[in-house]
Amino acid sequence: MQSQELRRKFLHFFREKGHTIVPSSPVVPHDDPSILFTNAGMNQFKKIFLGQAVMPYTRASTTQKCVRVGGKHNDLDNVGFTSRHLTFFEMLGNFSFGDYFKKEAIAYAWELSTRVLELEESKIWVTVFEKDDEAYELWKQWVPEKRIVRLGEKDNFWAMGDTGPCGPCSELLYDRGDLFGNATSPLNDVDGERFFEFWNLVFMQFNRDFSGKMAPLPKQNIDTGMGLERLVSLKLGVNDVFQTDILRSLIAQVENISGKTYKSDPAFHVVADHIRSLSFAIADGAQPGNVERGYVLRKILRRAVRYGRTLGLQKPFLGQVADRLFSLMGEDFPELISAKDKIKEILYVEEENFIKTLSRGGNILQTIIDNSKKSESKQISGQEAFRLKDTYGFPLDELLLIAKDNGLNVNLEAFNLLEEEAKERSRASQKELSQEAKVNLFEGFVKKHGTSSFVGYDTLETEGSITGIFQGVNSVERISEGESALIILDKTSFYAEMGGQIGDTGLIVHNDAIFSVEDTTQPFTGVI
Ligand code: SER
Repeated sequence: MQSQELRRKFLHFFREKGHTIVPSSPVVPHDDPSILFTNAGMNQFKKIFLGQAVMPYTRASTTQKCVRVGGKHNDLDNVGFTSRHLTFFEMLGNFSFGDYFKKEAIAYAWELSTRVLELEESKIWVTVFEKDDEAYELWKQWVPEKRIVRLGEKDNFWAMGDTGPCGPCSELLYDRGDLFGNATSPLNDVDGERFFEFWNLVFMQFNRDFSGKMAPLPKQNIDTGMGLERLVSLKLGVNDVFQTDILRSLIAQVENISGKTYKSDPAFHVVADHIRSLSFAIADGAQPGNVERGYVLRKILRRAVRYGRTLGLQKPFLGQVADRLFSLMGEDFPELISAKDKIKEILYVEEENFIKTLSRGGNILQTIIDNSKKSESKQISGQEAFRLKDTYGFPLDELLLIAKDNGLNVNLEAFNLLEEEAKERSRASQKELSQEAKVNLFEGFVKKHGTSSFVGYDTLETEGSITGIFQGVNSVERISEGESALIILDKTSFYAEMGGQIGDTGLIVHNDAIFSVEDTTQPFTGVI
């Protein structure tokens, strides 16, 4: 049984039990600012749980597209390195809104796992919240006590985010045997690889507010979530989710594009996983960018590109992987097909921009990494990090990720100090000129070179020519690495400080030269 068949079996089972099949909500929760991405099947039902909305049904079942990066449930750094973590996955779920509660939820979970999915009964273990005697007693009907384990709040109390619906939970785990370690119970299975969690039943009873206080919900509800990819891996008897049909086929596509053979390398896992988060998020209306959700997407994309490079993929390639995804999942999720061109275009532009940044700092970065790996401290110094940013425009965030992937850390304290010093230098170099000096300086300048035209309302990036370089009151022809100066352009997208808004920061780039813009001002009308 593979993804499509198991998905259908799950939904069919709950339809037969009186549940309404509700379509997945988008991975971008447009109406819920408390989360960056849809992280569970229950998100779309939050208002019903809170008693703020009513639906014509009290039982529902879904297969929900989930993205777990950023926020409370963040699996990004694990992806590629464990057998089960994904940033994008499908969560199969059944829900009761003040209808049935623990007894039926447990009985349904047991029936479906053992009779329909035909998982081996003797390998199923369950965990319950340590204070939940009721759940413990109910499970005893199905599972011998030696396979029922009580765990604390960290494992068995589920919350959607820092605020919102929450409650104690009970998990079904599958013992995958000696191959996955010699743990004898979930209690001593440190990395969770042997006792493999595949289904979580949440007994949704409380609403947590901003102060952390929990108030009972108007009704007792059920929210369950089963990872489809994990289930498929169990049914196929394969060691990890990357051997399941959809992900393995995406990996095969990466093999085709790169000409490399897959040997369980993390890089293949990362690309196969990340292409799904990216494509679904873009299809559902998000875009890589500089803040919040967009920033997280950019991070995912850049991680995929970086791992792609370790497979020799130097040019934009994600669009080709996305093509395979469209054919694998487009039938069940037609939004992928409708947004196909948009997805590929956005991926291409983002990839290309990032590749440019990488190649600017690339060689020097590799040397820094190699040297730091050999060092005892396993640290990239503040000077090196600063040089990468200041001279090559290589973003600190990116460096932090790359460092982490290489088992290194970055001396942030020293970095921040250097950055502060650089700002100070640039402020000092343009020490407030007197009004008279400004007039003297720029009146003639404008006559000769014209004014700077501002295009920043329409675009954040543009091409222009340098019309002047000043150090203090001196007009200079050139500046060298490490020096500060005031640069004037004929056309600019940098907004100058005025009307209560601070000046833009960013980069001016010409071939290998990068000028880091710390501030933008308009010292004289028309001069930016
Ligand atoms: N909300 C729970 C989870 O995400 C069960 O669906 O694990």
